[in-house]
Amino acid sequence: MLIPPHGGELINRVASRQQREEVLSGNYPELEISYERAKDVVNIARGLYSPLTGFLNRKDLQSVLDHGRLSDGLPWTVPIVLDVGEAERERLIAHQGVVLTHRGRKVAFMEIESIYSWDKEEFALKVYRTTDRSHPGVERTFSMEDFLVSGDILLLDGIEEPFPEVNLSPRETRVLFETMGWEKVVGFQTRNVPHIGHEYVQKAALTVVDGLFVNPVIGKKKKGDFRDEVILHAYWALIENYYPKNRVVLSILPMEMRYAGPREAIHHAIIRKNFGCTHFIVGRDHAGVGNFYGPYDAHEIFKEYPDLGIEPIFFRSFFYCKKCNSVANDKTCPHPPEDHVNFSGTKIRGLLQKGERPPELLMRPEVAEVILSYENPFVD
Ligand code: ADX
Repeated sequence: MLIPPHGGELINRVASRQQREEVLSGNYPELEISYERAKDVVNIARGLYSPLTGFLNRKDLQSVLDHGRLSDGLPWTVPIVLDVGEAERERLIAHQGVVLTHRGRKVAFMEIESIYSWDKEEFALKVYRTTDRSHPGVERTFSMEDFLVSGDILLLDGIEEPFPEVNLSPRETRVLFETMGWEKVVGFQTRNVPHIGHEYVQKAALTVVDGLFVNPVIGKKKKGDFRDEVILHAYWALIENYYPKNRVVLSILPMEMRYAGPREAIHHAIIRKNFGCTHFIVGRDHAGVGNFYGPYDAHEIFKEYPDLGIEPIFFRSFFYCKKCNSVANDKTCPHPPEDHVNFSGTKIRGLLQKGERPPELLMRPEVAEVILSYENPFVD
């Protein structure tokens, strides 16, 4: 028996042929949306964001901001919203629907339920816990337009999908997990190339479940993060050389990183629940950025969600201990920090930037090889 999707039903908002014909003969206005918003549209339609059927209205947005729940009480922490400017608001306000376009494609039809103003500062403070514009999520929030459009969507042509061969829908992953005979599946979120700490977290979790779902976020990130194709090729090298093939599935999550720390950890867990995962890994500073969140704030927030319906597996920060001669963390290792080598992303990035291979204690040589084969593995 697979775990039920969030809210009980896996949403499918892909237009039937008849719906498509009706919409396209409807003479609706068009609205060009960004690639990132188009990906949200596709994610709604394919059920990744179940139970959402469209972009949030004012009531649900306020409830998400105030309580981290939709207005019916269901856990939801990261608002999925569509912003428009004043001119667009005037153009759309009298219409009942709009065709969302991206680069010449009719991505989706959207019913216009309402167009409303919003408070960016409140949004930033409640989602990101800060209004500091050096936080990339806050910066994006303040650069958004002044109005939000709510309403259900119906997918038409979608967008050109990145890496279609590893872009499974929740329907597909659910069938796959069942075919693999997995009852307990742990989801792993990542935005990075894998170091030994990542591998250890995944394998430690895998020892208590049947299967591992490696689900890297592919999409807009911040400067200095690894490029999408580098992350994928690095993972393929890791899995090929070090993972049992009948215990792991890799598929992407096409979505922007928001770096909302604790709230994003809940959001990440909900999406993995929709993919059919029963468990979800939350390690050190999950979805964090800079020093905006404490290393275990993303563990704490789960206490507020006993009804989440997917079980978090928490890990304290792993490091390599020279005395233990193994990977360890403060729960398992008695030695002082001088004996520890941290899996510091910054340190590893620094070495790779200079064209140097990180030591094997930190990164598998096959993974380092793949990364170093790129002229520029980083987002500019
Ligand atoms: S994230 O933004 O997607 O969280 P990253 O890809 O680095 O960043 O981390 C993926 C997952 O691995 C997160 O749950 C994170 O907390 C966890 N993680 C990363 N490094 C460590 C570590 N050294 N010890 C424990 N957990 C870690």
